[in-house]
Amino acid sequence: MDGWTPDSWTSKPIKQDVVYDDPQGLQSALGKLRTLPPLVTTQEIANLKKNLRNVALGKAFVLQGGDCAELFDYCNQDMIEAKVKLLLQMSLVLIWGTFIQCGYFGGSARLTSSSTGANRPVVRIARIAGQFAKPRSNPMEVVDGVEMPSFRGDNINSFPATPESRKPDPSRLVSAYFHSATTLNYMRASLSSGLADLHSPLDWGLGHVITPSIKEKYERIVSQVKDSLRFMQTVGIDTDRGVETVDIYTSHEGLLLEYEQSLTRLLKTPTTSSTITEHHPTHPIATGTTTSQPKSHYATSAHFLWIGDRTRQLDGAHVEFFRGIANPIGIKIGPSMTPDELIRLLDVVNPAREIGKVTLISRYGAGKIAQYLPGHIAAVQESGHLPVWQCDPMHGNTQSTPSGVKTRHFSDILSELKQALEIHRAAGSFLGGMHLELTGEAVTECVGGAAGLTEEGLGERYTTFCDPRLNEKQALELAFLVAGFYREMDEMDDLNTI
Ligand code: PEP
Ligand code: CO
Repeated sequence: MDGWTPDSWTSKPIKQDVVYDDPQGLQSALGKLRTLPPLVTTQEIANLKKNLRNVALGKAFVLQGGDCAELFDYCNQDMIEAKVKLLLQMSLVLIWGTFIQCGYFGGSARLTSSSTGANRPVVRIARIAGQFAKPRSNPMEVVDGVEMPSFRGDNINSFPATPESRKPDPSRLVSAYFHSATTLNYMRASLSSGLADLHSPLDWGLGHVITPSIKEKYERIVSQVKDSLRFMQTVGIDTDRGVETVDIYTSHEGLLLEYEQSLTRLLKTPTTSSTITEHHPTHPIATGTTTSQPKSHYATSAHFLWIGDRTRQLDGAHVEFFRGIANPIGIKIGPSMTPDELIRLLDVVNPAREIGKVTLISRYGAGKIAQYLPGHIAAVQESGHLPVWQCDPMHGNTQSTPSGVKTRHFSDILSELKQALEIHRAAGSFLGGMHLELTGEAVTECVGGAAGLTEEGLGERYTTFCDPRLNEKQALELAFLVAGFYREMDEMDDLNTI
């Protein structure tokens, strides 16, 4: 790759840089990281890439979610299990239509699913095991009259509001690695020991649903899912791996490039991967690209990294780093992105035009999406790139209450998702999934949802260290509603094809 090396980003201008006043400590932390083993394998990365290719082609969904800022303290059994279970439940809700539309159940069942229909697997990506570093609008803040650096995430400084604890501490980079490794280890161990086994009864947590009609709808869906699983078991469809356990991939914002570089390794490209050689049919692979090379550079800190909205400058350090790694990557795009810049960015990070290599994570806000998304979709269609389109309905919908508490309204989140779906559909494009900030805990950070959380109630359990997250009930409710939108659209498509 022309001029790219794992450290070529250091010659480019960088945003959100961290300045350490202990250069020796930094070198020793990075030296240690370079000796530690990869957290994920190239085979896993290749599998995710293949799955995301299917999402780009409209054959699968992607559900990505987790905390805005993960803390080292979240590395404990209960919190990891709660988050993993929530993602599993949500993904099950998103695929529930499969069984019904395929004709296993549902009275007047059709025997085939529609071409755009709900018969799609869900790719799960957690914002976990490394989602520590946060970009900040302001590097400094004043707390009780004292000016100090802002909290930038547990891998940089610590939250308590004193100038001392807010000093960037390089040893936190090594701690970040070990907390990621421990979290990942527990996720892997629980999944392989049956945490995801859908034969065991699921606690769907319906107690919170206060509206009887919604409660009834939820209960119907849950019983349909359970019936479908029983049916599969009876006919032996689930005896293969698939229902007993599932894959959950890890992701974080690739903000701290020193950290990412230290865990980037030149490794053999898995031979079983179909992703490396398959490209957009209208853009045959250029000579001299990765097909003939047995090795590629992999960021091994997570399966999937994304570039944040604040660090995606075309000539900047983050884009330079990202253009050289073989992982699937995400790019956040908001109102400040022009269609022309978007295409140039895609050309830089994905010159070979691998399908699904890039996930465009759009985050405009419910009031702005209609103004920006159509232009972005049109430019991408015109360019011939085929990315995954994912809607992040969180980051464009943050607002403050009159008393200054950062929150998000469930109705805005839902509205941005619904509009995204409709805009993509009208443009002949596929909305492949959603990117959410959520937690498995019963927090009170976002307003609304069936439980009717109000601004006054926010103080009860407001525990985020960064952006407000959906609690477990709001997240599950959102999954039901979004699954419903997809089903409605599929049904409309089916009617149109009769
Ligand atoms: C985030 O995902 O937490 C984030 C900071 O997003 P964005 O880059 O879209 O602002
Ligand atoms: Co956030």
